[in-house]
Amino acid sequence: MLPIPFLLLLLSSILSPSSAADFCVADLTLPTTPAGFSCKKESTVTVSDFVFSGLGVTGNTNNTLKAAVTPAFSSQCPGLNGLGISAARLDIAIGGVVPLHTHPAASEFLVVTQGAILAGFISSSNSVYYKTLYKGDAMVFPRGLLHFQVQTGRSPAVAFGSFSSPNPGLQIVPFALFANSLPTPLVEKVTFLDDAEVKKLKKVFGGTG
Ligand SMILES: *[C@@H]1O[C@H](CO)[C@@H](O)[C@H](O)[C@H]1NC(C)=O
Repeated sequence: MLPIPFLLLLLSSILSPSSAADFCVADLTLPTTPAGFSCKKESTVTVSDFVFSGLGVTGNTNNTLKAAVTPAFSSQCPGLNGLGISAARLDIAIGGVVPLHTHPAASEFLVVTQGAILAGFISSSNSVYYKTLYKGDAMVFPRGLLHFQVQTGRSPAVAFGSFSSPNPGLQIVPFALFANSLPTPLVEKVTFLDDAEVKKLKKVFGGTG
């Protein structure tokens, strides 16, 4: 039998858990770590830390990809830090594409709200899963796997993705290969592409070397 004061203490700690456990709003003034941002002092947290208002705005698709991603990750919405969830808006103009890319830290569930998107991913065993998605369709891209989205049809496409991390990360294959400073002969060696193709793509994506 436990003494009454101890029981009361136990009960009160169960009924009013420390609010520090409720959230860990990102302190964006400090550097991020693989585990996320440090927590902001609770006395400085406001409702705007939990709100992001940019997802209603069409992204600027005037670029090489003719596509735009508007992230609502922990850098944009600090209240997401530590909660294992985030979102993004995807705009793809006619003829646009989000090339093969990966989010190393997150699975993605993409919901098409406008137009049509040919979307797919490639598994670790190189099986491909792709399908044209229309308004109201959604597709999951398992964590870390290479995937892509291509606009199809006669109107621009809009989709919203949710992610299983507040900081999913993003690496786009053509940028990784052709926007860097890896010497051209080495790029050719590690991709099996020929010299002309690598030089052409380095010009398109801004690579050097
Ligand atoms: C698109 O971008 C190019 C290059 O940055 C620029 O010259 C052009 O004016 C832009 N077009 C529109 C419609 O914003």
